[in-house]
Amino acid sequence: MNAKQQSGVLVIQPQHVLEGAGVRLQRSLGTPHFSYLDPFLLFDDFSSPNTDDYVRGFPWHPHRGIETVTYILSGQVRHLDSLGNGGTLGAGEVQWMSSGSGIMHEEMPQPTSEPLVGFQLWVNLPAREKMSTPRYQNIPAHSIPTVSLGSGVTARIVAGTLGGVRGPVTDIAVSPTYWDIALEAGAAAVLSISPGDSAFAYVFQGDIDLQTPEGMATRAAARCLAVVQAAQEVRLATDSKGGRLLWVAGTPLHEPIARYGPFVMNTREEIQQALTDLQQGTFIRAQPRSDPRQWYGAREESGGAG
Ligand code: FE2
Repeated sequence: MNAKQQSGVLVIQPQHVLEGAGVRLQRSLGTPHFSYLDPFLLFDDFSSPNTDDYVRGFPWHPHRGIETVTYILSGQVRHLDSLGNGGTLGAGEVQWMSSGSGIMHEEMPQPTSEPLVGFQLWVNLPAREKMSTPRYQNIPAHSIPTVSLGSGVTARIVAGTLGGVRGPVTDIAVSPTYWDIALEAGAAAVLSISPGDSAFAYVFQGDIDLQTPEGMATRAAARCLAVVQAAQEVRLATDSKGGRLLWVAGTPLHEPIARYGPFVMNTREEIQQALTDLQQGTFIRAQPRSDPRQWYGAREESGGAG
């Protein structure tokens, strides 16, 4: 489903989904209600204070044709993949993984004393890059710059540029913006959107009012995704509690989408080929730098080998 081309803000209520080996999460994009916002295919919030909700994790599974962006604000997620990368993603860290032609990986939230706060976004790859060599970027927290967006408003720049400061995630086909914006009580900020780009805010703390120049102010409560439609700027404002949100934007691909679980291609035939490759053992084309299974049982894990 695509957003209507009338300027304004559309708030999407998340759906409760059981994913992986039994992770209870909230999905805002990639549901029967709202299937995608080109080029963004899926948005999951797997935050929970309850270990039972996430500890079963996402065991070894494939991806083809997409990029996954995992952002952790609290807790830890152990990961390993068929490229030979492995480690633990912790608070403030990001993993940006381009599956290209094929990757196998696992993502296992770890039980810790902290509640788990984390999000995963799927970004589509253009047809010309769907069968490219898989890539992986693990971004430590200290590499993500924080920029002021005005009085009482700061943004961590994961990807994209703000005030001449460029985020550490680069070389992504759709030139995405991915900022983590915190607003103090009563603060406001105006964000600009490149003409034609898709943009959304995912509110995860407080209530945020969003308003386009021609539209009414629309309130998005925590754990709601707000799509900004047909506008080149949006004003964010919060109340006496303050708020925090992810701000994501990117250039639509305008290509046919064929999706089946963890595979997103352009045609049904390409999906069938992915399934055939899995059955025949030809799914993984990139040689690992090391045996990914070495990470099983590892007790001391670094922040990733990639
Ligand atoms: Fe995955």
